[in-house]
Amino acid sequence: MKHLYKKAAKEGHPVLLLLHGTGGTEEDLLPIAETVDPDAAVLSVRGEVTENGMPRFFRRLSEGVFDEEDLVKRTGGLNGFLQEAADRYGFDRGNIVAIGYSNGANIAASLLFHYRDALKGAILHHPMVPLRNVALPAQTAPVFIGAGTNDPICPRSEAEELASLLQNAGADVHLHWENYGHALTASEIRAAADWYRAAF
Ligand code: MLT
Repeated sequence: MKHLYKKAAKEGHPVLLLLHGTGGTEEDLLPIAETVDPDAAVLSVRGEVTENGMPRFFRRLSEGVFDEEDLVKRTGGLNGFLQEAADRYGFDRGNIVAIGYSNGANIAASLLFHYRDALKGAILHHPMVPLRNVALPAQTAPVFIGAGTNDPICPRSEAEELASLLQNAGADVHLHWENYGHALTASEIRAAADWYRAAF
C-alpha cells in the first residue's frame, strides 16, 4: 500500500496508524499525529480504492452504504499490510494505535470488528458502524470516538451504536461530542490528544 513511515522519536511510543477520509491522502492527518504524540512513530496509509479520483479504503454503493464484500477484503488487506510494515520497519506489531477520520475511521473500526489484536487502541473521528450482523472478537483496545451531534454523514445514532457494539465486545470506549457537523475541529483533536495521553 502507498504509505509513509516515520520512526518514533522516543523508544516505546506507539506507532500511529493514520487513515484519511474520502478524497484524502497519507499527508492529511500528519498534523494530528504531531498533536496527539509528537514522539510516536507514524505509519500513514493511502486508501487503494478510488471513487471519481478520490482515494478511499473500501468501495461504497452510495453515500453511507458500503460494499461489504469489498470492506471485508480491504480490511484483511490492511491487516496484512500492518504485519508487513512491522517486519519491514522493525516496529512492534502489537503497539499500533489507529487515528482515522470518516472513511479511515470506518476501516479502523472494521479492523476492530474482525481481528482481536489488530490495534492497541483507536481514535475514530466521525465513524459509522462499518457492518452489522457480525460477531465481534473480544476487544481490550481502548477507543475514542469523536462524533458530531449534527453530523449529516455519520449520524449521532451510528456513533452511539458503534460505541455500544465495541463496549459489548469489551472495549473501553470514550464517546466525545462536538456540534460542527462532519468537520474535524481543533477542539475534537485536543480532546483525542488528552484521551490518548491518559490511555497510553
Ligand atoms: C464512508 O463512505 O466511509 C462514509 O460515508 C464516510 C465518508 O464519506 O468517507
